[in-house]
Amino acid sequence: MCGIIAYNGRDDAMPYLVDGIRNLEYRGYDSCGCAFQSTNGIQVRKDVGRVDDVIRKYQLDGEHSNTAMFHTRWATNGPVSVKNAHPISDCTGEIAVVHNGIVENWAELKESLSMHKFRSDTDTEVIAHIVEDRLNKGGTLREAAKYAYKNIKGASSFLVMKSGSDEIVAVKHGSPLVLGLSKNGHFISSDIPSFSAYTNKVIYLHDGDLVSITKSGYSIMNMAHVKAAHKISYIKTDYTENDRSGFKHFMIKEIMEQPRLIKQIVKSDISALEKSASVLNQSKTVYLVGAGTSFHVALIGAHNMRLNGINAIAIQPQDAKDYSKVFKKDDVFIIVSQSGETADIISMLPLIKENKKLGILNSAESTLARAVDIPIFINAGHEKGVAATKTFTLSSIYLVLLSMFASGNKEAALRDLRLLSLNIYNLFVPSVLSSVSKAASILKKKTDVFYLGKGLDYAIALEGALKMKEVSYLHAEAIDTATFRHGPLALISNGAFAVSIVSRETKQDAIRNLREVKARKGKIIGISYENSDVFDIFIKVPEAGNFSFIQQAIVTQLLSYKVSVLRGIDPDHPRNLAKSVTVK
Ligand code: F6R
Repeated sequence: MCGIIAYNGRDDAMPYLVDGIRNLEYRGYDSCGCAFQSTNGIQVRKDVGRVDDVIRKYQLDGEHSNTAMFHTRWATNGPVSVKNAHPISDCTGEIAVVHNGIVENWAELKESLSMHKFRSDTDTEVIAHIVEDRLNKGGTLREAAKYAYKNIKGASSFLVMKSGSDEIVAVKHGSPLVLGLSKNGHFISSDIPSFSAYTNKVIYLHDGDLVSITKSGYSIMNMAHVKAAHKISYIKTDYTENDRSGFKHFMIKEIMEQPRLIKQIVKSDISALEKSASVLNQSKTVYLVGAGTSFHVALIGAHNMRLNGINAIAIQPQDAKDYSKVFKKDDVFIIVSQSGETADIISMLPLIKENKKLGILNSAESTLARAVDIPIFINAGHEKGVAATKTFTLSSIYLVLLSMFASGNKEAALRDLRLLSLNIYNLFVPSVLSSVSKAASILKKKTDVFYLGKGLDYAIALEGALKMKEVSYLHAEAIDTATFRHGPLALISNGAFAVSIVSRETKQDAIRNLREVKARKGKIIGISYENSDVFDIFIKVPEAGNFSFIQQAIVTQLLSYKVSVLRGIDPDHPRNLAKSVTVK
């Protein structure tokens, strides 16, 4: 995925960029690096590790330069190592490149650049050598960057600097890049929160844009060298809230924020939902699209819509091509995405160009917010923990509201939402929290755990298992309670643990199936509205009609968080992950 930020202007770039790159760390934290102009030409500093470690190691906050760029890496091509950290240089060290994306034809290009000395395993390095080649033949940095763009395949946005030049050139293709305009200089970055403390004036770049920023200004051309006339936008979202408010991690802070955020929905303006509900009623089939946690939200939405008589299917964006033959013009798509930047979703948009698109989104400034016809913002605030928590619950709530509004059940929806906003406080009480802690202290020592549920409870089981895997590295697998006996039951022996989600609607069947687990000496942690003799540990969740599942989900979040901490893992930065997946 990777995060990129650059500044060029009259101010010292380093304080802006040291701060900015910290705000991009959610995009990857395998290694970090920077390039800056100095009186001795380009200086490059880079290393493996977290952003703060690299800043401290090279005392980057003590450096001064007006022209600089930073990168934080999520490894795709080439292992995590110093040589693969960006910026990546050419043979001479006079050119530096930072890149977000994948050069799909890098192997073939590398062969054609056999006269060059390659020092890294990255696909990015071909860009540096192509630029070097082109500059050797004469021409400007812009021309060389354009030439590189023309030769590479795949979604790739990159920035390039040349020793002694006060210019930074950027190419946008696929991966996000936005230009920030301030009085004394300009930013180019993967995402707005990295510079929003310094300016709210932005230009969203388009694919194929070639941008140049110098100390005195900026220019945007398309690849045909025609000046682009993109409009200036003003950021409305406040991204400045960066502290953990006394909590040890963002993950627990964000879990604990949920009661307040739910209360906020009760008081909010729901007109966008009402407008969208009428769109659903005109559709033949509603496709709900999301990746990872957002796919689980889509499953919840589709389940609730079907219960309300709406023909709805949840799909993953990677499968859209397989489904595309059955897509019809009057099908409506609901896109669920916290970041609004997930590459798998963005790349399926051409398949549904003609269709009406609604978005369940958290970022008003994202690519998907601009791509959909009706964006519905969940207003969860900036989610910093890598594992989605509050955005999962809020997106699910908005989808259930939408589905109930569309089917004429608005009053019941609002009644249940009010109930949830009151009952949720009974979740954060000592008796519930101590049961969660007891379960966590057992799971901490396990290597495997099963999450069982049926219908809507199965979607919660999927999300609970994903959360557990992500932040605790425990092998957690969600299985439909009813299908458990069709094979997976073979995994149960003495000492095996299952977390079972049981709601009023599924209880009778679920308990019968769970007895089969008990009979094989499996142990059961029950997350349910009432106790049962099959549960070895019972975690009681209050009910709230159509929103009871929200409280089950929050218990699974708390459980994952506690196991993570007990295992000594930093849940905000689990290994190998990044907050938004901006590569396909
Ligand atoms: C898991 C998680 C991911 C995201 C997925 C989609 O905790 O956060 O599975 O849900 O990468 O991201 P968005 O919602 O930004 O499209």
